[in-house]
Amino acid sequence: MIQADKKTLQRILDDNRKYTADGKVADYIPELGHANPAALGFTVATKNDGIASVGDCGTTFTLQSISKVISLLVALLDHGPKKVFAKVGMEPSGDPFNSIIKLETMDHHKPLNPMINAGAIAIASMIAGNHVEERFQRVCELLHLMTANTHISLNEQVYRSEKATGDRNRSLAYFMKSTGIIETDVEEALDLYFQLCSIQVRCSDLAKIGLFLANWGRIEGKDSPLVDPCIVQILLTIMMTSGMYNASGEFAIHVGIPAKSGVSGGILAVVPNKMGIGVIGPAIDDKGNSVAGMRILEDLSKEYGLHVF
Ligand code: DON
Repeated sequence: MIQADKKTLQRILDDNRKYTADGKVADYIPELGHANPAALGFTVATKNDGIASVGDCGTTFTLQSISKVISLLVALLDHGPKKVFAKVGMEPSGDPFNSIIKLETMDHHKPLNPMINAGAIAIASMIAGNHVEERFQRVCELLHLMTANTHISLNEQVYRSEKATGDRNRSLAYFMKSTGIIETDVEEALDLYFQLCSIQVRCSDLAKIGLFLANWGRIEGKDSPLVDPCIVQILLTIMMTSGMYNASGEFAIHVGIPAKSGVSGGILAVVPNKMGIGVIGPAIDDKGNSVAGMRILEDLSKEYGLHVF
């Protein structure tokens, strides 16, 4: 269906190019400011029906907050849901991704969910490994398996830029250290978080990660799942309720599929049992979501009846 329908995919891309002008490239991490705001592309990887890309899919970009899905997966594999959710909540925050306010006002000082920065830094502090490099490699190895792309690795410049300017994240982390949410070395948790955000990918990688989740943790073409489908169910639910930050409700109504955005303009989307979608459109809105990218996902959802409800 998808290969045969490349014309439709191209039309959806062309129809939405104009919306790239409605967003701005993130520059609070200076290195991200070099991205081309007019770039737009997406890849669809389907179950049993191949992969198709349209637009600027050669563009490389960093995972940014999309890494939060992968780190949550690794933490759940390492510790199981009970231990992970003892430290981080499951509720949508309704606040911006880097908000600090509820860390102090909510019971137990737990970050509300693993998709906001506070939650993701707490999750990074739980990833097992003897040192930061080993923890980072464990996450990369899982990405290599999911995507069959062993070239996925750190973008050094973005990592250095994140580290040099990540003071809000430092304040979140040290606050969580003071309240006992972070139990391990706080600088190591931050360093790993900055590295995970700086993993460089293309749309096709996101689409394959999406397909892996759509297949309930099974690599396309393989029989047995690599991870427990119950863990994938948790990831997809959290993506649905919190993956697009304080736009998650609106996105769930208009698009209706689990998704996770990053300030680089990438979006990872999953249509359970059907496909994974990877989008890049670096021009983002004030909530941190790719403006044209969200429009593309809405059009794909309507065109192919992808809404899960
Ligand atoms: O920590 C940060 O602010 C970034 N590395 C990630 C934020 C992000 O991607 C939010 N997404 N829309």
